[in-house]
Amino acid sequence: MSKVRFHDIIKKHGADILDSDGMKIEKNCIQHGTFSVYDHSLYVTSMCLRISKKLKLKVDEKALVRGALLHDYFLYDWHEPTKANRIHGFTHPGIALNNAEKVFHLGKIEKNMIKRHMFPLTPVPPKYRESVILCVADKICATKETVGGFKTKLMKKMAKNKYRRNGNDA
Ligand SMILES: [Fe+2]
Ligand SMILES: [Fe+2]
Repeated sequence: MSKVRFHDIIKKHGADILDSDGMKIEKNCIQHGTFSVYDHSLYVTSMCLRISKKLKLKVDEKALVRGALLHDYFLYDWHEPTKANRIHGFTHPGIALNNAEKVFHLGKIEKNMIKRHMFPLTPVPPKYRESVILCVADKICATKETVGGFKTKLMKKMAKNKYRRNGNDA
């Protein structure tokens, strides 16, 4: 299944989430590397669909899409050096769930997906198949985003050094 098709599925189940005010905030908050929280949420949602299709898993597709889109709905910049942000990894699933519940109707699967997506950093394991898929997809995407961001930085630095070696001022 192509990425375009995944995009259609995401739009079908999550158009209201994508258009929400919270997602506008997510677009302005960096998650990893050059990825905004919005980009990351879309990437993770596509990855969830990819995993479920590839492994032919029977899932609640609507819940999978909505829970994945909302899993990081914490709505602040966690890179700011505040005391609260030091424990962001542990606290943001609860904050994201609180924010999401205020705006959207969530079923038990979506709630569990959001609340448990940081396992094993947070000790309670995910309960549903969709929550486990999200847990795995989130880690794959976070790693790719971080390594990708590091690679881009490194390549920029190498290009700059090469430019200097050729007798130019950077
Ligand atoms: Fe998260
Ligand atoms: Fe995430």
